[in-house]
Order: sequence, then structure tokens, then C-alpha cells
Amino acid sequence: MEGSDDEQQSVYTVLVTGANSGLGFSTCCRLIDEFLFTRPQTQSLHLLITTRSASKNKDTQSRLQQHLQKTLHKADKSTPGISKVLASRIAISGEQVDLCNLRSVKELGERLVNKGQRLDVLICNAGIGGWKGLNWPSAIWSMMTDWKHSCTYPTYKLGFVGSVAPQGNEDKQQQLGEVFTANVFGHYLLAHWLAPLMKADVSNDPGRIIWISSIEAYAHAFDADDLQALTSDAAYESSKRLTDLLVLTSELPSTATSTAAFLDESDDGQKPKMYLAHPGVCATSIADLPLVLWYAMLFAQYVARWLGSPWHPVSSYLGAVSSVWLSLAPFSTLSNQETTDGKAKWASSTDVFGNERVVRTEVGGWGWGGKVGEKADGKMRLSANRWRGQEDVTKESREEFEVLGQRVWREMEDLRRTWEKRLRV
Ligand SMILES: NC(=O)c1ccc[n+]([C@@H]2O[C@H](COP(=O)([O-])OP(=O)(O)OC[C@H]3O[C@@H](n4cnc5c(N)ncnc54)[C@H](OP(=O)(O)O)[C@@H]3O)[C@@H](O)[C@H]2O)c1
Repeated sequence: MEGSDDEQQSVYTVLVTGANSGLGFSTCCRLIDEFLFTRPQTQSLHLLITTRSASKNKDTQSRLQQHLQKTLHKADKSTPGISKVLASRIAISGEQVDLCNLRSVKELGERLVNKGQRLDVLICNAGIGGWKGLNWPSAIWSMMTDWKHSCTYPTYKLGFVGSVAPQGNEDKQQQLGEVFTANVFGHYLLAHWLAPLMKADVSNDPGRIIWISSIEAYAHAFDADDLQALTSDAAYESSKRLTDLLVLTSELPSTATSTAAFLDESDDGQKPKMYLAHPGVCATSIADLPLVLWYAMLFAQYVARWLGSPWHPVSSYLGAVSSVWLSLAPFSTLSNQETTDGKAKWASSTDVFGNERVVRTEVGGWGWGGKVGEKADGKMRLSANRWRGQEDVTKESREEFEVLGQRVWREMEDLRRTWEKRLRV
């Protein structure tokens, strides 16, 4: 199994999409740092990054090399000469993909499958907000009257309605929602095509597909009759709720037929596992603000943390703690956590001083682990800072969540098959 010391030299490969900025870049830095000091010397990390262009790829690889050099330099200070051993344990390579262009996703899948190298972790990080601006009066009013809550659960963002990701044809039937495709469907196809590289075998635990959600994945933002949120002005929130539904129901018997087809494997012990993470709120370029406003946002986020919000890591390096933990923690640790307390949405959280930790997040209709009657207790389940519209999980809401999960799994599988035919996979 991965992590065993009796192997000669083993390679642990992690693919991160959208690695050139924000959380994607910080996730890569953090993976390097934690891998070097938590995994045995017999293991090397192959960090496979994706960006949308060759120039971004080159630039990202060079910035990651600089980060590695800094880490090695620090290590040398405490143990002179160790950097040579450590440096040989990290390899970085790059691929290009535009998740909104399904042909490009298919080509990446084919390239990697043809290479045949095992993939241990796929981090579905890339994403877009699809916002056109802010409702300023509402933003100012809610910030002044309810700072912490409105910085965590903003109600003043204005989203584009009906934006589509062109796939090289004019047929309306074949149009896909842009935010849906960038955040969910592009990754969904990629994960399906890469699943054969991620199965458990005699020397490896199942691969991990880590989906990045958000604290803003409200139940009310998702309409099952509009899977792609084409008629909604909250396409981002809808895409994140869809992500929550897919991942949290992915191990239930009721979705097994769909997940077996999606992961190309019906044996639960062999199937790659899906995990759900969110970074809290971090200052990145996803909101696409002018510089002055970006600094105002940064300040607002720090104030929210000082007012006691656990959901404001602010720094993307701190925000990456949950996805990196899910990538590198021993498989048995994750299995124990999710078997004992239920499948979770794992969040990056900090205290007022910025001390990080990974905690479970409450999800509408599912709670902290899909259990009815579960209460926030000492196990770092933070209910004081829940969204004010959140209700406790009841037997009915838990059932509705599962039924909705089954439905979205079926519809995503139908959409996958339709697009595989169109793309002639
Ligand atoms: N920042 C937060 O507070 C926050 C909170 C919750 C969840 N998240 C999630 O974290 C993830 C990363 O966001 P971020 O805040 O780090 O934003 P970011 O700095 O804007 O990074 C987004 C990354 O995704 C890439 N990307 C966008 N569209 C793509 C496409 N069609 N194909 C391939 N790559 C694409 C971008 O590439 P380009 O540079 O080429 O555009 C960029 O590398 C997203 O899934 C986001 O929803 C962020």
C-alpha cells in the first residue's frame, strides 16, 4: 500500500488543475512542503500541474521551482546537506487543458492514459465565479450592519445568466453552461477518463479525486431541473452545491450503479475515492477586482477573521490545508474518519491568529456526516458560524438529499454518455 517503507523508490503522482494562480498554486507549494517532511524518503512526489496556456505553464513551473529552493534552503539550515536528498524527491511537470473545451479535456485524458503512469490524486481545483459585479448599495449596507456573516455568505454578488461554453458548434442543444463546465463537467469527464489510472492494486490504495467546493454551496441555489444553472444568476453557487451532492452521495448504495459506470469499476475496494474539500474564504483573483478593491476585500476578510469567523484563512496557502491533507493523509486515516462519523465536506479553517486546522463543514440536508440528529459538538463542528438559513438535518431532509444525489448522478452520467458520443470517445 502507498506509504509502505519496504518499497524501493515509489512515485506518488498528484495532478492539480488551475495551478497557475490562487489556491491551485498554493496547493502545489503546500504539497511540496508537506510531502517532503511527512512521507518516507523512499517516496517521491510527481507534481503534475495543468494551466490553460504554455506560457502560464512555464511560468508556474519556474515559480514552483523557486518555492522548492526556498523550502530546501530552510531545511539545510536545520540539517546541513539534507537539501540534496530532498530535491531528488520532487519532480514537476505540466500539461495544458481548457476545462470549458471538452475536446481539450479529452486530449489531456488520452495523453495521460497513453502514458499509462499511475495517478494517485486528482485535485479538481480550477474554477470560475461567473460574476459580472456587485450590487454596491447592498454590499455596503450588509457589510456595515453584519460584517462577519456578509463576508462569509455574501448576498450581493451579481452573476451572469445563461453564459455558455462554446464547443465548436452553433446547435443550442449542444451548449453547455460555462460555470457548470469549468467547475464541474470538465473535471467530471477528466476524472472519468483518468479513473483507469487511479484504481487500487496490489501495491496501491485507491486513487483520490478531490473536489473543491465552497462555503457558498447553498441548497437553494441549486435547481434540479436546471442542472447547468443556465437560467440562474447564481451559477457558481449552483455548481458548488452540485459538487457537494455528487461527492457526499458517491459512496451510498443508491448511487452505486452510476458511480461504477463513472469510475469504470464496480468493486468498492478498487474504485478511486471521491473527497470533498473547501478552502474557506481566501483572497485570490477569482473575483476579478481592480487592485484597490482587491485590497479592500483583503482587509474585509481579515476583519471577519478577527471578529471570530473560522471561515477566513484569507491566505491561499492556509486555504489549501484541507485539500493537501486529503491528498497526503494515510488512506486508512481518511477511511476511519469517514466511516465512523460519515462522509464529510472538509474545510480549511483558522482561529483568530491564523492557526489552521481541517474541520467538517455543515451541508444543507446532510449536516456534518449525513446523520440525522447530529449536533455540533467538540469535534470541531462549527455551528455558531453557520449560514443563517441553515436548518438541522431531519429524516426527511436527509432522504431528500440522497434522492437528489441519485438524480444528479443519473443525469451527469447521461450527459457524459451524450458528450462521449459527440466527441467520439
Ligand atoms: N478564493 C476563495 O475564497 C474560494 C472559496 C471557495 C472555493 N474556491 C474554489 O477554489 C478554486 C480555485 O479558485 P481561486 O480562488 O484560486 O481562483 P483563481 O485564482 O481565479 O484560480 C482559478 C484557476 O482556475 C483556472 N481556470 C479557470 N477556468 C478554467 C478553465 N476553463 N480551464 C482550465 N482552467 C481554468 C484559472 O486559470 P487562468 O489563470 O488561465 O484563468 C486559474 O488557474 C475554485 O474551484 C474556486 O471555486 C475559492
